[in-house]
Amino acid sequence: MFSSKVARAALAGIGVSLLLTGCERPPVDADQIGYRGTGMEQVVNPRTEAKLVSLNQAPTALPPAEPGGPLAKDVYKNVQVLGNLTVNEFNRLMVAMTAWVSPEQGCAYCHNVANFAEDGLYTKIVARRMTQMTQTINGKWQSHVGNTGVTCYTCHRGQNLPTQRWFTEPDAKIAGRLLGDDAGQNRAGVEATANSSLPYDPYTSFLLQDKEIRMAGTTALPTGNRQSIKQTEWTYALMMHMSDGLGVNCTYCHNTRAMHDWSQSPPQRVTAWYGIRMVREVNNEYIAGLAPIHPPNRLGPTGDISKVNCATCHQGVNKPLYGAQMLASHPELAGGSGGSLASALVKK
Ligand code: HEC
Ligand code: HEC
Ligand code: HEC
Ligand code: HEC
Repeated sequence: MFSSKVARAALAGIGVSLLLTGCERPPVDADQIGYRGTGMEQVVNPRTEAKLVSLNQAPTALPPAEPGGPLAKDVYKNVQVLGNLTVNEFNRLMVAMTAWVSPEQGCAYCHNVANFAEDGLYTKIVARRMTQMTQTINGKWQSHVGNTGVTCYTCHRGQNLPTQRWFTEPDAKIAGRLLGDDAGQNRAGVEATANSSLPYDPYTSFLLQDKEIRMAGTTALPTGNRQSIKQTEWTYALMMHMSDGLGVNCTYCHNTRAMHDWSQSPPQRVTAWYGIRMVREVNNEYIAGLAPIHPPNRLGPTGDISKVNCATCHQGVNKPLYGAQMLASHPELAGGSGGSLASALVKK
């Protein structure tokens, strides 16, 4: 009897310490961001914060290009997006792109260096489309990125592929993970939803498709509320990703006493609303269609290529790179309607 009690106590102790390993080591700081008594606070851990600061520094900008000289389209053979830059501006951007995306491989990551005009490497075609995508984000989505804007570095950070990307998760039945259908949730240690047991792929529904992100009904119970518990869980899964991706609490965008109420929400929620729409457009119009030109090692389990979520740019902070104004030194990435996928894929 006694020994089994001790064993039980010991087990409970282990259980508690296991639970605590999922938490952050105290002490943490709480910043009050709303009126007293409204519970509007941000909890920050100074140690995590210090690490984020070092990870989110923008590189030094290249010196501006020498003014004047001929246009790229009059000198080069196969420029479809950047033809209106001067040759000096064009070459400066090529050097910057190399530092942002392929510092180890250099120009050869995208080019046959014996013939720069050739479109033989898929990476060059992807880079052309990514240039149009970056121009669209900066030109069309100022409602989200303001004048801060983005460059290739915002996502790539000196790597061929951004660290934070996502693939569609295969149906559990197809993947053979469980006997039955796990309804897309209750999997251990899922990074997407900050280690919760919530649905593990909120991205496909909300950042590729445009499923409704709702919990509250718009009319009184019972007939008006069509929002099921299932739908609520999916909504929360996305919210966990958004909080985690930006390194903020729910109170950064909501007043927790009335989550749904826009009139009680901080203005950041509106920025986030536009962000969701921007990410959908980026994934659908610019990225998904490139899958057929990728080699198999770049494809996910359902044959898609990896896509953008909030963390791709934000990487744990409320403004990517703490709001560094990288776009200001690369005005060539600022505007543009984006062009069509066909125009980016065209081969000469
Ligand atoms: C991340 C991919 C990438 C890297 C790295 C890269 N380029 Fe490019 N380059 C492109 C793309 C995309 C185009 C086509 C732009 C367009 O269609 O407007 C291009 C076009 C060119 C052209 C025009 C060729 C022609 O006649 O049509 C030259 C020259 C060039 N790049 C030089 C360089 C040099 C030099 C480097 C290394 C310092 C470099 N590039 C690195 C993607 C890249
Ligand atoms: C909003 C985030 C974002 C921005 C901005 C961005 N990229 Fe990407 N990039 C991605 C994602 C996500 C992928 C993975 C998709 C894929 O497999 O092609 C990717 C893939 C690539 C690849 C393919 C790499 C490989 O090895 O398969 C190249 C090349 C590339 N990007 C170049 C660029 C260039 C050049 C710019 C700037 C003009 C840029 N990207 C801007 C998100 C971004
Ligand atoms: C970066 C801003 C942001 C953060 C952080 C955030 N949310 Fe949201 N939340 C939104 C936006 C924007 C919407 C509306 C989405 C839409 O309509 O497309 C929303 C919608 C919701 C809804 C649905 C409300 C309704 O009308 O039914 C709930 C519930 C919710 N969030 C809960 C949370 C919780 C819980 C957290 C913390 C884990 C959280 N949110 C963190 C921005 C945020
Ligand atoms: C293409 C890169 C990119 C992606 C992807 C992205 N953001 Fe942002 N976001 C930015 C930039 C850049 C800013 C800074 C804008 C500024 O300085 O005004 C920003 C700002 C914000 C802000 C305002 C922060 C503040 O402190 O005022 C919120 C909230 C936000 N983003 C939420 C999101 C959410 C939620 C997602 C995913 C649905 C997302 N973002 C995806 C680039 C991005």
